[in-house]
Amino acid sequence: MRLAVISDVHGNAPALDAVLEHIAGEHVDAIVLLGDHVSGPIDPKGAAERLMGLDAVAIRGNHDRWTVDTGSRGAGAVDRFAQGRLSAEQLTWLAGLPATAEVGDEIFVCHGTPENDETPWLDNFYDGRTTTLPSEEEVAGHARGIDSAVILCGHTHIARTLRLSDGRLIANPGSVGMQLVRGSPDAHYAIVEKGRRGWQTALIAVPYDTEAAAKLAEANGFPGWGESIRHGWAGPESLG
Ligand SMILES: [Fe+2]
Repeated sequence: MRLAVISDVHGNAPALDAVLEHIAGEHVDAIVLLGDHVSGPIDPKGAAERLMGLDAVAIRGNHDRWTVDTGSRGAGAVDRFAQGRLSAEQLTWLAGLPATAEVGDEIFVCHGTPENDETPWLDNFYDGRTTTLPSEEEVAGHARGIDSAVILCGHTHIARTLRLSDGRLIANPGSVGMQLVRGSPDAHYAIVEKGRRGWQTALIAVPYDTEAAAKLAEANGFPGWGESIRHGWAGPESLG
């Protein structure tokens, strides 16, 4: 089993195109989408079109909930922008996504943690333009009750893979379309594969035309996104 793992596209269709082109050369058996698919100022409709066209397992993230229901606590301007760009069919697709899913017998997928799509798992929430690591107890605690050998999560936009002391693999592929904190503008995704020695992860970063994407975000009224898109050294407060 060889999986491509995509998370946090945030409506960045050009970054998604670069990732899908890379995946086309990777001979994967399945694609998994971990949520926050469309909420962003670049091309939410184009991102939804591409994602709905994939034969992929998809779950929802916190921003997908907020794009569907822009009146809920936490929803912001960029969720309203995305909602305004999506077709009725695309919004129906988004509204119907589950919070978590299983792929085969060995893989569990969620957006934040198994219980909550707003809780960061492998990194703590950002402190300005940096972040800190949670303790082993905190990381292991969120995996309690999940028997799967592989657990995939997103939400933090920080690519990381680790093993719990019992051997279970947890991997976060990072974000396709919105980079934060540690300076890589590239579109991130992951390949997770069951090899001869067990489950293994490759964290992949693909370059794309960030300048064109940043200009689109700015033209659509979100100048704060330019910093994140152009160089990736940004904290969430700069997104506006
Ligand atoms: Fe996100």
